[in-house]
Amino acid sequence: MSRRNSYKTGDRFNQKAKDEGYRARSVYKLSEIQKRFRPFKQGQRVIDLGCAPGSWSRYAQQQVGRNGVVVGIDIQEVQSLAGCTLLQRDVYTVTSEELLDLLGGPADIVLSDMAPNTTGDRFGDHVRQIAIARRALEVATQTLAPGGAFVCKVFEGEDAPGFVDDVRKLFTTTKRVRPEAVRRESVELFVLGMGYRPA
Ligand SMILES: C[S@@+](CC[C@H](N)C(=O)[O-])C[C@H]1O[C@@H](n2cnc3c(N)ncnc32)[C@H](O)[C@@H]1O
Repeated sequence: MSRRNSYKTGDRFNQKAKDEGYRARSVYKLSEIQKRFRPFKQGQRVIDLGCAPGSWSRYAQQQVGRNGVVVGIDIQEVQSLAGCTLLQRDVYTVTSEELLDLLGGPADIVLSDMAPNTTGDRFGDHVRQIAIARRALEVATQTLAPGGAFVCKVFEGEDAPGFVDDVRKLFTTTKRVRPEAVRRESVELFVLGMGYRPA
């Protein structure tokens, strides 16, 4: 299937998301990470950066259960979701104090599926994407409890290995993951850090 057709007509993940009541097919990227590496546990506190339309937040809420807390932020307006606190905020202006306050304590997991609007300029998009991933890592270092986990989208390109190295310095285990639900023509991959070790 060509890139154009795949985005236009959807694929089995679009259909599955519809059938299972998720707002986006991207939920299957996070669910694959959970199936393979098990970062989520019941009762955890989770921050979801770039949460709109809400499929990761919903999935995270299901994994952490009633005793857990999910706080999502997005620069766009996001429809409310049972069991989650979702706010319209820019990741560059939200403060760690606000996030910690909403969570009621340090985070166990910081998720970032944030992406800037792509322009078609692959290098420029990559540079902007790594910049936003670095901001997500900064939020993680300000909010994660020792032992916590970080899941972050990046676009493959020349600055990606440096970013992965920086994650590696802060976590006991670091993985680069390309879930099956990532579209074949996409340059995205996910960096998973587990076992946060504050510097
Ligand atoms: C791929 S979507 C996230 C999809 C989401 N994980 C889900 O499953 O529903 C990326 C999101 O990042 C958000 N985003 C981009 N720049 C942002 C910023 N500066 N602050 C907060 N969110 C941002 C976009 O508005 C967009 O909703």
